Amino acid sequence: MSRPLPEPWRVKVVEKIELLSREERERYLVEGGFSLFQIPSEAVFVDMFTDSGTSAMSDWQWAGMMQGDEAYAGARNFYNLRQTIQDVFGFPHFLPVHQGRVAENLLFSTLLTRPGLIVPNNCHFDTTRANIEANGGTALDLVIPEGRNPQFNHPFKGNMDLGRLRRLFLEKSQDIPVCMLTLTNNSGGGQPVSLGNVKAVSELCREFDIPFYIDACRFAENAWFIKQREAGQGQRTVAEIVHEVFSYADGCTMSAKKDGLANMGGFLATRDVELLEVLKQKLIVIEGFPTYGGLAGRDLEAVSRGLREVLDENYLRFRIGQVESFGAMLSRAGIPIMRPTGGHAVYIDARQLLPHIPQDQFPAQALSVALYREGGVRGVEIGSVMFGKDHPETGELIPASMELVRLAIPRRVFTNSHLEYVAGVLEDIRDMRHDLRGLRMTYAPKVLRHFSCRFEEVESQVEELVAVVA
Ligand SMILES: Cc1ncc(COP(=O)(O)O)c(C=O)c1O
Repeated sequence: MSRPLPEPWRVKVVEKIELLSREERERYLVEGGFSLFQIPSEAVFVDMFTDSGTSAMSDWQWAGMMQGDEAYAGARNFYNLRQTIQDVFGFPHFLPVHQGRVAENLLFSTLLTRPGLIVPNNCHFDTTRANIEANGGTALDLVIPEGRNPQFNHPFKGNMDLGRLRRLFLEKSQDIPVCMLTLTNNSGGGQPVSLGNVKAVSELCREFDIPFYIDACRFAENAWFIKQREAGQGQRTVAEIVHEVFSYADGCTMSAKKDGLANMGGFLATRDVELLEVLKQKLIVIEGFPTYGGLAGRDLEAVSRGLREVLDENYLRFRIGQVESFGAMLSRAGIPIMRPTGGHAVYIDARQLLPHIPQDQFPAQALSVALYREGGVRGVEIGSVMFGKDHPETGELIPASMELVRLAIPRRVFTNSHLEYVAGVLEDIRDMRHDLRGLRMTYAPKVLRHFSCRFEEVESQVEELVAVVA
C-alpha cells in the first residue's frame, strides 16, 4: 500500500515556541493597533506571516556558513554562487543584493528613464509595484481572468493573459521598458505559471523587442507544478524544467529568502553586459562591492547551497503536498479557501467567511486579528489594507478585488501537527464568525501602508444598538 511519506528530514536543532495567555494576546493586539506587524515574534505561537526568510537551513547550508570568506573583494563564496546561478538558471552574470527589492530597485530605477512608462506582469508583488511607482511608472497586472476568481479551478492560475499583453504591446510598446512574470504568482495566491505561458510571453517580448525578466522567488515550486500538471513534462527533472524556463528570459530578480532556502539574500541576473555595468556602479553606492552586494560571505554560501538543495524532488513533493493537505483540512472544515492551493501558502477567502463585515471594514484584517486572538496564529492580510486605495476626491475606499488572509508555510519549519492545530483554531473561528467585528483604519502612511497602519475595532451592531438605547 502506498501512503504519503512524512517530512523528508529529521530534526537536529529545535526552537522553543510558546502560546501566551488570551489576556496577553489581547494586550498585544490593542497595543499594536490591531496590526500583526506590531506583534513581537515571541508573542506568536504558530507564525505563518510569511515564507520569506523564515526557512530552516539544512546541515549542509550551516556547514557552508562556516566556510564563509569575509574578504571585501573576491570572496570564494561569490564564485560558488556565480557557478550555482550558471548551473541552475543558465545566466552568465549576476549581482548579489541583500534582498529581492534591491534587485527591483536597481532594475526599475535604471530602465524607467522617464515618467509614464508601463511595466506589465501577471501580478506585481507589493515591493515590485512600489519600486515601479517610485520611479514614475505604472505597474500593470495582466493575469488571466481565472486567476482573479478564488473559487475557479485552473492548473495555471498565474498565467499571463496573452491577448491583453499583445494588445498592450501593439498600442504602447514604445512605453514598455521591460516585461515581468512572477513565478509563482504570490499576490494572486501563489499560483503557478505554465512553461507554455513563459515561452509565449518570451516570444511576444522578442517580437516587440521588449526585455523579459522573471521574478524568480519561487522558481522551484513553480517548476514542480509544471512537472505535475503540464502535458509532456512529467518525465523531466525539476532541474531541467528550471533551465528551460529561464532560457526564455533576459534576466531575473530573485529574493533568495524564498526558494533560496536562506534567511537573507537575493540577486539580479542578466545576459545584458551593458546593463550589468550600469547596475554594478549603482550597487556599489547602495549595497556594496559587487562580489558581496550587502551580504556576508557566509550568507552567499547559504544561498548558493540553498539554490541547489531546493531542486531536491523529495523535498518539493513533501513541500507542495503539505500545503495541499493543509488546504484540504480547511476545506473539510468548511473554511472557504482559494483553489487550487498554490505553492507556499493557503489563502482564506475572508469575504466569503465573513459576509457581514463590509470591505471598508477590512474583513481579511478582522480574520487575521481573530486568528491571533483565538490561537496565537499570525497570518497576513492580502486585501483592501494592502491593495485598497483612497479615492483622491471623496476619500472613500476603492477596495481590492479580493479579501484574502494568507497563511504562509515556512520551508522545513512546521510539522503537520502544527498545521492541524491551526486548522482547529479556524474551526473555532468558523463557529463564532458572526461575532467577529470589522476595523477602522486610524493611521496610514502614503506608501506601502499595510506595513505600518493601525486600526481600532468597530463596535458590533449589538453594541451600537445598546449605545443608542443608552
Ligand atoms: C514575488 C515576490 N517578489 C519580490 C519580493 C521581495 O523580496 P524581498 O522581501 O527579499 O525584498 C517578494 C517577497 O515576499 C515576493 O514574494
